[in-house]
Amino acid sequence: MSSPSSDPLLARLREPISAITAYDYPSARLCDGAGVQLLLVGDSVGMVMAGGEDTTGVTLDEILYHTRMVRRGVKSAVLVSDLPIHSYEDPEEAVANSRRLIEAGADAVKLEGGFGQIDKVRAITSAGISFCAHLGMLPQRVREEGGYKKKGKSEEEARTLVAAALALEEAGAFAIVLESVVPEVAAEITRSLSIPTLGIGSGWDCSGQIRVLHDVTGAYPWFVPPFARVHGDVAGEMRRSLAAYLDEISRP
Ligand code: KIV
Repeated sequence: MSSPSSDPLLARLREPISAITAYDYPSARLCDGAGVQLLLVGDSVGMVMAGGEDTTGVTLDEILYHTRMVRRGVKSAVLVSDLPIHSYEDPEEAVANSRRLIEAGADAVKLEGGFGQIDKVRAITSAGISFCAHLGMLPQRVREEGGYKKKGKSEEEARTLVAAALALEEAGAFAIVLESVVPEVAAEITRSLSIPTLGIGSGWDCSGQIRVLHDVTGAYPWFVPPFARVHGDVAGEMRRSLAAYLDEISRP
């Protein structure tokens, strides 16, 4: 165990922590009203809302726009916004762009990566900005890595992940998203930290879970990640209501 974070956002989270992405006012209002504890304006917006192939085309202006929409729909949940690719090339840029996200309504910011990002994380938290880390599969690097791959399969990779998580906690992160991490490694990271972990595709032994809204609700039927459980049929409901509308206006 390392030293506990003093981030005030932690007082608003109870284990098991529930977290989900939200990208606009109605989805934020519905998620917040349902009692989800943490909402993420994730750069997955570039895929499930904008139809992009991956998250590498998302800009800071887009995340700012979506953060403003989501802020209007949130009463209780903690609101975290992603720093998209190329918006945190050095510590100064990371702090300046984090401030813009906070001004747009975020309670905290998130960026992807471990040891390579510690100087930026430290700069963000030293500026008094709450920070959520993201380890494991890093979607912003999908092109360099040639696909979405499970992380922590080798002993060395597992050791590096645990060490990076500890370094991120030490740099002031209040939580860490673990994406596509081997479940046993995610469990070990969770045991080693005093801040919570939010798993996605990383098993159930995390402090909480985070999902993409469209995966959970069945709103993006063209692709569902293998680990995602789909609990709804939003796409089917839209198709049904549109068919009813077309039928209605075809014979008024
Ligand atoms: O952008 C996003 O949706 C995310 C989640 C996968 C955690 O970072």
